[in-house]
Amino acid sequence: MIEEAIAWARLDCLPAAQRLGLRREAAALAVRHRRLRTHWAGHLAHTRAALLASARLAAASPEPPQRAWIMGAGLLQDVPLTELLDLFRQIDLVDVCFGPAARAAERGHPGRVHCVRLDVSGVLADLSRDPQAAVPAMPADAWCASVNLLSQLPLLPCSALLARGSSEAAVERYGRSMQHAHVDAFGPIRHGCLIIEHALTRAGSTDEWLLPGLPDRLVSTGWTAGARWHWPLNPACETAEPEGRAMQAWFRSLAAPAPAP
Ligand SMILES: C[S@@+](CC[C@H](N)C(=O)[O-])C[C@H]1O[C@@H](n2cnc3c(N)ncnc32)[C@H](O)[C@@H]1O
Repeated sequence: MIEEAIAWARLDCLPAAQRLGLRREAAALAVRHRRLRTHWAGHLAHTRAALLASARLAAASPEPPQRAWIMGAGLLQDVPLTELLDLFRQIDLVDVCFGPAARAAERGHPGRVHCVRLDVSGVLADLSRDPQAAVPAMPADAWCASVNLLSQLPLLPCSALLARGSSEAAVERYGRSMQHAHVDAFGPIRHGCLIIEHALTRAGSTDEWLLPGLPDRLVSTGWTAGARWHWPLNPACETAEPEGRAMQAWFRSLAAPAPAP
């Protein structure tokens, strides 16, 4: 409890996100990162390796992007910043909430690393907005990555809508629409990486798909499936019923459009 209060005090958070509980959530995550360092080490290493593989693919393309736009990077736990600095001139860490490590990286690399405090869903300040219309554009000239963010994106907005009396069916639709809008916002982006939780795992039971239909949708829009791994999210040392997440990286590196004749 005290650890979380200290972590909370060290975060800076977009007010609209804080009102929905994202600062509390980020503080809890920061504490869990410390407590479960050993259990999560493999997951973090896989995430960093997948990000780097995708970034190297982009950097090796004929017109390599000079900028990285990394969403969900506010705690900077799973981003291989040193290696990415060798590949990009500018790195934008994008989140609603930033911890001391991200702020130190920004200070340590002036003009090259920026903490961009942005709601990538566009709806946090006004949940009556249509997620498809609200989603902000990503910079088309950048390598864009979404890091373990997609399944988190709708959680607190959907809780708030339920608390305000929306029906479960409407809230479910709204959450899906937020996730689709996030993936669709990659539409014009040539070089991208998505790291997603695609299923919930429990020992002795079948995996529960979190994003049904998404793999087909990604394949049909030029994404390639990359590494898969298991994240022991709530390991046995923490809970009587351990559960985890089946993770998957997706890459996209599209050729530049041919110049108009
Ligand atoms: C589960 S964490 C991702 C894991 C994280 N990369 C790490 O280092 O542990 C989700 C991240 O997405 C951020 N986030 C959630 N909703 C967001 C939104 N609408 N816009 C921008 N960032 C958001 C959270 O603040 C959090 O840092």
